[in-house]
Amino acid sequence: MPELEAILLVGGQGTRLRPLTLGTPKPLLPTAGVPFLAHQLARARSFGVRRVVFATSYRAEMFSEAFGDGSVFGLSLEYVVEETPLGTGGAIRNAAAALTCGPGAPVLVLNGDILSGHDVGEQVARHVARRAAVTLHLTEVDDPSRFGCVPTDDEGRVTAFLEKTPTPVTNRVNAGCYVFTRSVIDAIPPGEVVSVERETFPGLIESGALVLGYAEAAYWLDVGTPAAFVRGSRDLVLGRLASPALPGPPGDLLTLPGATVSDGAKVDGGSVVGAGAVVESGAQVSGSVLADGCVVRSGATVTDSVVGAGARISSGVVLRDAVIGDGAVVGPGNELLAGTRLWPGVVLPECAVRFSSDV
Ligand code: GTP
Repeated sequence: MPELEAILLVGGQGTRLRPLTLGTPKPLLPTAGVPFLAHQLARARSFGVRRVVFATSYRAEMFSEAFGDGSVFGLSLEYVVEETPLGTGGAIRNAAAALTCGPGAPVLVLNGDILSGHDVGEQVARHVARRAAVTLHLTEVDDPSRFGCVPTDDEGRVTAFLEKTPTPVTNRVNAGCYVFTRSVIDAIPPGEVVSVERETFPGLIESGALVLGYAEAAYWLDVGTPAAFVRGSRDLVLGRLASPALPGPPGDLLTLPGATVSDGAKVDGGSVVGAGAVVESGAQVSGSVLADGCVVRSGATVTDSVVGAGARISSGVVLRDAVIGDGAVVGPGNELLAGTRLWPGVVLPECAVRFSSDV
């Protein structure tokens, strides 16, 4: 496969993942032990990508601090900053200034919050063979109303692009990985706020350009919500999606250097224990992300949750589907369930929140 250039869309604010994204952009959140994007970059490299342009806006400087020139990944990385967010289409157009390929070359464009096991090489090959304007990876989901609904004809030609419609006509949705022919990117108006989902794709279809769907039912996850973020980390640790960037062998548990898991603690289900984090004897942690330097005391139960850096989880606490911000303290006996989010630094006194009435 020829060398490919890619644009990575990473300028979003990640509002659905607050408070985790208050200080860190979503694509940099520690996921299975490394910044989320490390998994995407390592996979992109394995599909022949050699140069990646980051389309940044929110907390732009943090991306170059995290990845530098990309040599660790065998990639060459460029960073393009939008002074004000230009939307997905405007960001792609803006980043194209840093591409080196010619007008007929395929360019891979990736949303920075998708975990996908699909065959990118095959997607690019189909795009080139059919001389398409754009080729979209499509995946099937149970509830297509939250995504771009993408019907195709028998030849794979996209016949409509219906962004977040309450009346979806198919379960096939936009999976957030595109191959654009370079000249199609250059035709997006420069310096304007443009949405590929609401403007570029419908406009191309309307004008008769060949927009192709590449449907593949591989592992796929949009990590935009806390529950999905936790699931993504867990699936990477468990090896449900192979990632060259996983810092250790796949298994029930990933402990980062400097983490302490006491003999009497039970930690499993694809959990990560961050550097310097402590899980005391008698604690139970399952399917969760424990960030660097946090402490889970004896007798606490943490399930499918995120515990932020330096946070303290006291004895007898129950966390399920909860997000605890960096440095927060959950006092003894609290129960935080079903999507609870505690903001960074908040101190919750003993038994302040309980869901059950048996107290
Ligand atoms: P939410 O606020 O939780 O919806 O998340 P988000 O801001 O990431 O938005 P969304 O998931 O719709 O964005 C899809 C992808 O496009 C993500 O990878 C974003 O980082 C990226 N993105 C969205 N808007 C912009 C933008 O204006 N500029 C750039 N460079 N990237 C964007």
